[in-house]
Amino acid sequence: MEHTVECIRCGKQFDKNRIIYTCDSCGGLLDVRYDYKKLRISKKKLRGHGVWRYAAMLPCEIEPVTIQEGGTPLYRCDKLAKSIGVRELYVKHEGMNPSGSFKDRGMTVGVTRALELGAKTVACASTGNTSASLSLYASKAGISCVVLLPSGKVALGKIAQAMMHGAKVYSVRGNFDDALRLVQELCKEQKFYLLNSVNPYRLEGQKTIAFEVVEQLGWKMPDRVVLPVGNAGNISAIFKGFTEFKELGLTDCIPKMTGIQAEKSAPVTNAVLQGKKEIEPVRSPETIATAIRIGNPVNAPKAINAIYSSGGTAGTVSDDEIVAAQKELVRSEGIAVEPASAASIAGLRKLVSLGMIGKDERVVCVTTGHLLKDPEEILRVCEAPVEVDADIESLRRIIS
Ligand code: F0G
Repeated sequence: MEHTVECIRCGKQFDKNRIIYTCDSCGGLLDVRYDYKKLRISKKKLRGHGVWRYAAMLPCEIEPVTIQEGGTPLYRCDKLAKSIGVRELYVKHEGMNPSGSFKDRGMTVGVTRALELGAKTVACASTGNTSASLSLYASKAGISCVVLLPSGKVALGKIAQAMMHGAKVYSVRGNFDDALRLVQELCKEQKFYLLNSVNPYRLEGQKTIAFEVVEQLGWKMPDRVVLPVGNAGNISAIFKGFTEFKELGLTDCIPKMTGIQAEKSAPVTNAVLQGKKEIEPVRSPETIATAIRIGNPVNAPKAINAIYSSGGTAGTVSDDEIVAAQKELVRSEGIAVEPASAASIAGLRKLVSLGMIGKDERVVCVTTGHLLKDPEEILRVCEAPVEVDADIESLRRIIS
């Protein structure tokens, strides 16, 4: 679909064929815009499954680089709703995407744009999932991929994916924020196409989470969407999706966007709880949820706007609360997620108990990545298998 690229801070417009990630006048984040009056979308016109069902609201013109991403399940979780104490609870399980996380939605659009713009190499910094996804889509597209990971802090499954998918993997002695700074410089120097979520085309793909939630609920809007926040792209993207459906007249309200961060990696939550519009970066972020171990989220201005404009809020959770939620979600509802994703469930429980989320609400939690991403965390937080001799006597003795 025809689109323009615009700075969210000063409104400057950019040629869509120019490779640029932030405003060259004021440094603001960029946004992809459409002429909603020309976009004649009706519920009946939506065809197909997954991200490209919404092709009319996406910025690409060539055949997409797709591995059938999106179209993930939305599970109704009555047992968990009862345990937490909310009226209705649904979990949108983004771990069911091709590479096991929501990043695939952004990459199908981002890598298709990379081809449209003539890029030969794509690059990203990552806490793991972005690299797993980008390397997969780069391979599918037949272009090279460079990924920068914070040394020693990336879940094993995610590094394994990037390696097997054929990316050039660099382990940076520093944290994600350092890696992101470096990859931005690298892309400028080497003319690599940057596919972190500062690239607004990534968010275009990810906004389809909102579209799917609305359709899966039978065009009924949830009161609230709760999700983990790291680099703060996904909450911004999902808010944009809800906003677009409203602008197109398909829906009439927007759910309260609610972001959850880990206690020691919570610059966005800290800002929101103090009513501020700007974050104070956290110098040495820490959490068991390595996916969201981020101190200086690049999309913070978009995320904070999403939270304030939707009447949402933010919260923090401890590592223990994350692990407890991860276990409860899979043991009561069969939904297997990595620690960062469980932060949404832990955060919902916490904010309900604090009275910041109403007990009468219909809530959707987004679980962003699959359990198998982080096997080492599982070994740390679960009881180890008990070794037993290969005879029935020994087995009987141990079981009783
Ligand atoms: N959940 C998971 C599983 C993630 O991998 C991420 C981000 C988030 C939540 C937070 O999303 O950054 O849009 O606020 N992972 C990035 C990465 C940073 O490099 O894979 P966000």
